[in-house]
Amino acid sequence: MKKIIALVLVCMFCLTGLALADELHMGTNATFPPYEYYDGDTIVGIDAEVAAAICEKLGYDLVIDDMEFDATIPALVAGKIDFIMAGLTVTDERKQSVDFTDSYATGVQVIIVPEDSDITSVDDLFAEGANHTVGVQSGTTGDIYCTGDIQDAGLGTVQQFKNGADAVLALTSGKIDCVVIDNEPAKNFVAANEGLKILDTEYITEDYAIAVQKGSELTQKMNDALKELIDDGTVAAIIDKYIPAE
Ligand code: ARG
Repeated sequence: MKKIIALVLVCMFCLTGLALADELHMGTNATFPPYEYYDGDTIVGIDAEVAAAICEKLGYDLVIDDMEFDATIPALVAGKIDFIMAGLTVTDERKQSVDFTDSYATGVQVIIVPEDSDITSVDDLFAEGANHTVGVQSGTTGDIYCTGDIQDAGLGTVQQFKNGADAVLALTSGKIDCVVIDNEPAKNFVAANEGLKILDTEYITEDYAIAVQKGSELTQKMNDALKELIDDGTVAAIIDKYIPAE
């Protein structure tokens, strides 16, 4: 009898262990259409779907944990999540604390302005004597570049917002002069608001990749899955679904 109880306990332990091991937690900030955003109660978007396809290939259940953008890397480093997909740009600085997979998409930092703005090109932001108030999402590369190139250079002020939508709201209400953000969310925000446009000139082009803990064996596994999903057209189909060709 004791043996049977012990066996049952061992089995239960194994099952819980397996159930836990079967999940991968993805950290993201779901304020970033078309990469991650809410459709009702569900987080959808390119990252959500690519992550689901990768997890399916690797035999894991995907759990998406929504958090502030600047909390994602600390959460990964602390082991609270297994990976980040958040339209996350690969940078040397971030590589000091996390590992990145191969890139699955490209982003461009662009400038959103009111239609009648006197800012006509990205160079106007860095011109001698410039003094603009630039809105960014806190902790993003847009924030990091503008803080360095504009605020620290004495060419204006950078105002940080919790998300791109809040920055755009400040722009439409005239509190700031422009917003620096990734091109695809920029298109979404401009489409959703009257009187805004994206400048033709681009600030900087970047690679998006998945971040995992330093030294994690997930990097290789995810790269293998990602390669298969790129080669068989799955990733392109997901991107086409969310970014219809113009
Ligand atoms: N690509 C930029 C960065 O990595 C912005 C990403 C913002 N992502 C988000 N899900 N809010 O810093």
